[in-house]
Amino acid sequence: MLVLGIESSCDETGVALVDAGGPGIPRLLGHALHSQVRMHEAYGGVVPELASRDHIRRVLPLTREVLQQAGRALDEVETVAYTRGPGLAGALLVGAGVACALGAALGKPVLGVHHLEGHLLSPFLSVDPPQFPFVALLVSGGHTQLMRVDGVGQYELLGETIDDAAGEAFDKSAKLLGLGYPGGPALSRLAEQGDAKAFALPRPLLHSGNLDFSFAGLKTAVLTQARKLGDELAPRKADLAAATEAAIVEVLVKKSLAALKETGLDRVVVAGGVGANRLLRAQLDAACAKRGVRVHYPELALCTDNGAMIAMAAAMRIGARVQAASRSYAFDVKPRWPLDEISAAA
Ligand code: KG4
Ligand code: ZN
Repeated sequence: MLVLGIESSCDETGVALVDAGGPGIPRLLGHALHSQVRMHEAYGGVVPELASRDHIRRVLPLTREVLQQAGRALDEVETVAYTRGPGLAGALLVGAGVACALGAALGKPVLGVHHLEGHLLSPFLSVDPPQFPFVALLVSGGHTQLMRVDGVGQYELLGETIDDAAGEAFDKSAKLLGLGYPGGPALSRLAEQGDAKAFALPRPLLHSGNLDFSFAGLKTAVLTQARKLGDELAPRKADLAAATEAAIVEVLVKKSLAALKETGLDRVVVAGGVGANRLLRAQLDAACAKRGVRVHYPELALCTDNGAMIAMAAAMRIGARVQAASRSYAFDVKPRWPLDEISAAA
């Protein structure tokens, strides 16, 4: 069974084709991505209207590219999956509209996927796929959550951010340091040349006794430190970047360990854009190795938004009989959509 996946929730248009025909985990046959980062850079963040218009321009050429990569024809596609939410409403509507139009034209069913479920299941596309159950650390630009995952569609929220997401903390701190958009990779690169111990930044909610996060205070601390430095900021930027990254990563690692302890599980999956962060990977790997815990990541190219995770999530939902694709082509999108709403266990 070939599933075409379309992702358009934010600033990346992603299209992919997976084969869920055989036994075992669905296989990725091809994927293509267009990042709008260059376009939004000039504005210091995502401009929703520009994002929607660009998705319109990109989605069909990317679909053609993916089919060509996979050596398959459009009429071989058996299910068309798309990101139904959460995300920017206009951007989501482009993917949903195109997916449902394709489905209707081909006479094939469609399935709307939760973007975070896509991230959550994306490590199943890696060479070292996880096994259920596991703890998932979901760290993207809009979300920071710890979940207990018992199977496809069985997600229990253990804790989440009460204000900014981890990716937002990276992006906002990077902006304060004049590093442009998106800030995460830029801040991380600069941090490699800095001394993380040069500044003492707060570790919000580290000892809160629960699994919630808070990153808004960290951004304020970075701003205060940058102001204090004044003209001295330029030569100390790498140090401040390193201290910021270390603070975010320490909280993410410690809370993940606390979630493993609380659930008694010995497997953790990291998903979402911040999962590409090298320091996070190194520190989590080291902490988990000590405790005999297995850590799984998506392939680096599939950490940030992409169509493969959407096709994969749809294929896995269908395969596990959690949801069937539908021949109803009237679609809606869900810009705000808590993940536990789609949990079969909820
Ligand atoms: O999952 P994603 O692509 O989009 C959302 O669904 O939000 O995540 C994007 C976020 C951005 O905040 C970006 O700065 C962050 O992931 N990010 C990183 C790195 N690569 C992407 N943050 C830290 N280090 C990185 N290497
Ligand atoms: Zn995402």
